Parts: sequence; structure tokens; C-alpha cells
Amino acid sequence: SAAEKGGYDYFMLKEIVEQPKSVADTLLGRVGVDGTLTLDEMRLAPSDLRDIEKIVIIACGTSYHAGLIAKYAIEHWCRIPCEVEVASEFRYRDPILNRQTLVIAISQSGESMDTLMAVRYAREQQARVLAICNVNGSTIPRESDGVLYTHAGPEVGVAATKTFLTQLIACYLIGLYLAQVRGLKFGDEINAVIAQLANMPEQVERVLATVEPVRNLARTLSDASTVLFLGRHVGYPVALEGALKLKELAYMHAEAFAAGELKHGPIALIEKDLPVVVVVPSREGRSVLHDKIVSNIQEIRARGARTIVIAEEGDETVRPFSDELIEVPAVPTLLQPIVATVPLQVFACELALAKGNDVDQPRNLAKSVTVE
Ligand code: AGP
Repeated sequence: SAAEKGGYDYFMLKEIVEQPKSVADTLLGRVGVDGTLTLDEMRLAPSDLRDIEKIVIIACGTSYHAGLIAKYAIEHWCRIPCEVEVASEFRYRDPILNRQTLVIAISQSGESMDTLMAVRYAREQQARVLAICNVNGSTIPRESDGVLYTHAGPEVGVAATKTFLTQLIACYLIGLYLAQVRGLKFGDEINAVIAQLANMPEQVERVLATVEPVRNLARTLSDASTVLFLGRHVGYPVALEGALKLKELAYMHAEAFAAGELKHGPIALIEKDLPVVVVVPSREGRSVLHDKIVSNIQEIRARGARTIVIAEEGDETVRPFSDELIEVPAVPTLLQPIVATVPLQVFACELALAKGNDVDQPRNLAKSVTVE
């Protein structure tokens, strides 16, 4: 009913708008005033976490994209090697796991069969399995050693939105917790990131307050035959997520590339008026990547592409090469996906609505995929 949808025509619209609250709920009670993280509910003892030698993240679809972002954060903060793999590939290649491996299974529903089978396989190999899940008491957390719930509230729209942002928060919390438990370096940086996490609900709110131009832009692109997405570092999984949303909701061909790969092939696709969305890394700490992506934008624009650029506020270097500039708040690099994903959700949703599609129930898709 309209009431259930909070006055919106679709659950997805409501769920996008709910994101600041969902992010706050995922953080609730887990970050102490002094920056100490409390994740006792994970049921994995600090002594076990100190023994971890490798982390393997398994997930599907949007949850897999959260895992890709987690890898950047975990390796940087914790210095533990971290692999990420789609669950449907994982157990078929004889992966190397043991008691010192922490497997993190990310699943909104907790019921994805591919992920569940990977969890079972990992436990047979003696790995410890930690689930990140949104649905209390679902199968994957029940079959895992521990769980961190995302507390996003029920997500009805088939396309994951608020659960993706909260999965990211859960991943950051785990990465930061591991770093704390293992007493590693980067103390100042870690403390700064923990402090910044508390501001994320407000930053997402600011993005939502400024997305009207994204809606207008999306409506102009409903006849495009394809949209390309480029990103680097954590912006690359954000680009993948933007492309997936567009496929799912607008039934359009969309593809994401790591911007550095452009010159190794995909640049041949660039032609006049082709819409290309570019996620520009924040300038903090990663200025080399930032400058490289700015030259990518110049290259594709010189070949006639219509550049749609997502960059942090005040980044004037991209303005001259952006046909459309979407600004997001400046936040630490590793947290940028929290703000940069939101305009892409709105973009895909609005484009789909312009095409007359049902964004809550896209064709051929189910909210949880319980077959392998
Ligand atoms: C996301 O928009 C999709 N509906 C889909 O890719 C989803 O993320 C995937 O099926 C994984 O689901 P899960 O998180 O419930 O395991």
C-alpha cells in the first residue's frame, strides 16, 4: 500500500531516502565515544582474530561489490591478505583455506544459495566463517561461526540500495576492529576514520538533498543504448555497482571498467555522445590516482563522449572536462563509496522509471536467489 511505501510510489524510492537512518542504525551501539569498537555479537574471540592469516570474502551481485570495497579497506588497515570472489565460482576451483582463514560471507537475505554453498564448503575446510547479513536468523548466519547484522530494516525493492550502504559500514567496522584487535600501525588514520564514520548519515543526507539534477539527467538518457562506468581504487567497485543497477532496473546495457584498463581495449568503444560515468577518487591521500583519472576524462571527452563525473565538492580540476558534474561531500578515500554510490542508485532508478519499468520488481529477478 501507499502507506507501507511511506508515500512513495515505489519501495525503492523510500529505501534510497532511508539510507541515512539505515547507516546510523548499523553504527548504533558499535562505536564507543573513545573510538573503541564493540562487535561482541560477532561471536569470534579476539584471540581467534589475532590468528587470522588470510581473509576470503564471498558474495554475489551487489554484496560482492561491497566485498570488493572491503578488500581495499582491510588490506590497508589490517595488512592481512584479502581475496574477494563471487560465491558461484569460489568452491569449484579448489580454494586454499584452513583454520587461519577468515571467510566473510556477505548476503543481504542470508539465503543466496551460491553463498550458502560456499559457506558450507569453507566450514568443511576448517575456515572460520563470519556472515554480514540483514535478515535476522536467516540461513547463512545460522550456518556461520559469527554474524554482524546490518540492521538496515526490511528491503522490499529487488535492487539492493540501503543494504549495500550498510554492508559497507559493516565491512568497515570489521576492518577497523581487526586492526584494533591486532594492534597494528596506522593508529591515527584508523582513529580518524572511526571518527568520520559517525558523520556518514549526515553526509548521505547531504547527497540526497542535491540529487535532483541527477534525476533530470537520467531522464535525458532513456534512449541511450549503453552507458559505461569508470572508476579506480574503491571507485571501481562503485562503478560496477552503478552498472549493475542500470542493468537490473533500466534493462540497459551497461559496463564498468577500471579506468586504468581503458587504454588496454575499452577506449575503442568511445564514440560521439556515448554517456560515460566517471567516479573520481577523493584527493585525500590518493592524488596520483586522482590526476590519472582526470586525464582519462580528458581522453574520452576528446573522443566525443558525454562525461558524467562524480567528484568531491570543490574539485575544480574536473569541471572543465565534465558535461555533467555531480558533487559529493569530501570524505576519507576508503569511505567515498558511501557517498558516491547514492547518485548512481538515483540515476538508475530514475532512468528505469522514465522507461516505465517497475523498479521494485524488475523482470526476471528475485529478491533472494535460492537456487544455485
Ligand atoms: C542487487 O541489486 C541484486 N538484487 C543482487 O545482485 C543481489 O545483491 C544478489 O543476488 C545477492 O543477494 P544477497 O545479498 O541477498 O545474497
